[in-house]
Amino acid sequence: MISVFRKLSWYFKEQWLKYTLAISALIVVNILGVIPPILVGQVIDLIQYNRLTQENFTYYVVLFISILTVSYLLSIYWDYTLFGRAILLEKKMRSKLMDHFMRMTSPFYSRFRTGDLMARSTNDLRALNMTAGFGILTLVDATIFMALIIGVMAIVINWKLTLAALIPLPIMAITMQRYGKKIHERFMDAQSAFSDLNNNTLESIQGVRVIRAFVQENRDTDRFKEQAEDVFQRNILVAKLDALFEPTIKVLVGLSYTIGIGYGAFFVMQSVITIGELVTFNIFLGMLIWPMFAVGELINVMQRGNASLDRTGELLSQQADVYDPKNPIQVERVEKIIFDDVTFRYPNAPDSSLNDVSLRIDKGETVGIVGKTGAGKTTLFRQLLREYPPSDEGTVFINEHPIQAYTLKQTREWIGYVPQDHILFSKTVRENILFGKENATDEEIYQILEMASLKKDIEELPEGLDTLVGESGVTLSGGQKQRVSLARALIKNPEILILDDSLSAVDGQTEAKIIQHLKEERKGKTTLIAAHRLSAVKHANEIIVLKDGRITERGCHNELMRNKNWYYSQYKKQQMEGGNQDE
Ligand SMILES: Nc1ncnc2c1ncn2[C@@H]1O[C@H](COP(=O)(O)OP(=O)(O)OP(=O)(O)O)[C@@H](O)[C@H]1O
Ligand SMILES: [Mg+2]
Repeated sequence: MISVFRKLSWYFKEQWLKYTLAISALIVVNILGVIPPILVGQVIDLIQYNRLTQENFTYYVVLFISILTVSYLLSIYWDYTLFGRAILLEKKMRSKLMDHFMRMTSPFYSRFRTGDLMARSTNDLRALNMTAGFGILTLVDATIFMALIIGVMAIVINWKLTLAALIPLPIMAITMQRYGKKIHERFMDAQSAFSDLNNNTLESIQGVRVIRAFVQENRDTDRFKEQAEDVFQRNILVAKLDALFEPTIKVLVGLSYTIGIGYGAFFVMQSVITIGELVTFNIFLGMLIWPMFAVGELINVMQRGNASLDRTGELLSQQADVYDPKNPIQVERVEKIIFDDVTFRYPNAPDSSLNDVSLRIDKGETVGIVGKTGAGKTTLFRQLLREYPPSDEGTVFINEHPIQAYTLKQTREWIGYVPQDHILFSKTVRENILFGKENATDEEIYQILEMASLKKDIEELPEGLDTLVGESGVTLSGGQKQRVSLARALIKNPEILILDDSLSAVDGQTEAKIIQHLKEERKGKTTLIAAHRLSAVKHANEIIVLKDGRITERGCHNELMRNKNWYYSQYKKQQMEGGNQDE
């Protein structure tokens, strides 16, 4: 339980002054809190013995109000400081995680599911917040405050009475802990059922078109009903325990009061204590209930905090498998890219996805990469994007140096990438495009729209460039999304442009227009194009055909046509089909 504090010690050390002040203030408030019940007892005794004068009454009232005022101010201070620090911890951990996520590469993301990462960066961090704020508060209250009250009860009033009245309290603590644990278990159960329901509902809503198309509405509704019933039943189980909890506690607290008053009255009769002291005693008993709860809660909060800390720690301990070299090389321009006998296998994959690939791309060249689906086109690009640790055999060179000799930032700055599965953010078209170059002017954007054959499409949108796209906005067609994604890469005017099957969803005519623009505007710059439709690479300086990660043919369009292999037959086939398609 304490280990969670040890694991968080870096933070407590960093914030030691604030924590020391807050905890000191909390302790002072606790000590001050013990005084009013004593004053109440004294006033009652004064009334009892007819000794209450104007003077001492004023004294009590002033003292009372002063204590309240000081407690009030100090409470505001500790509450604000303690919980403020806790929120800050959550923020710091979240930034740490986010930085970490940004540095992590594909293997990390295939190890952890998105939902899991989301849960760890929200729920778990909230649990840490609880530990650093509420945890510390309960720790102080459950130990110092409780000891203080019991001490005052035993010393100032009567130790025998204290002992007797406290008998039900350990039973209460044990009951609360047991109940608490059980409730927690059932609650977690209900929560996880709810999580499942949530996930499925989300999927159903997202996939509603598919569900309708396959006429699966009834089955889906039935499944939902079943799950909703399950969630209901589990929550009822929680409610049942909850219903038992309060009355049990009340009975035990009542028992404690009964002993306090019954046995206390006996002491009053014997003149061992005064009536005032009996009242003070019972107020103290009431004040003990919260710290008792706190003990139970403390254990819960600490356990949850510890588990959450371990879960986030597990993420943070993952090393990035692609990292910057110690002494990176700086070059002005990319003169050539060379794949030297590169063989690459994905982590955990049985076979390699690139085999002995050798390729030289000089500055200004356009290279086409074609081949059946799964041939390794995207994998080849990933070597340049450095999404995975370097290949097992062979090296990718940029100019004279292996690509690993450069910083990730530099290599990625050279590249404009249009991924195969185009991802647009839920922002305006303009913002999506500006992602490639923050400070581009409208003029530049329009130029790029022209280049990506997107101008007409954007003009037809309700608010033009300022139309919101993505999940919460206008739904763009597949081809439009591809071209926005293309515009985003083009506006960067990168040294190396990578188009991964980026024109697959546009018609043949538009494709031809875009290719024509690319040829004109990207003179002197390197362009790599992967495509299924061979017309997209026909103009390339070199075309390579991949099969099972191996280069099986290479050359320019005319050469490949003369060779009459896969490329030739594929091209012929597509030409015949294309005649009908590309109207
Ligand atoms: N993350 C991955 N982990 C393991 N294997 C992968 C991974 N990504 C791709 N592969 C495998 O590597 C091979 C090449 O895939 P790649 O995506 O490079 O093909 P592609 O030529 O781009 O295909 P497509 O034309 O369908 O885009 C395939 O056999 C695929 O199953
Ligand atoms: Mg691909």
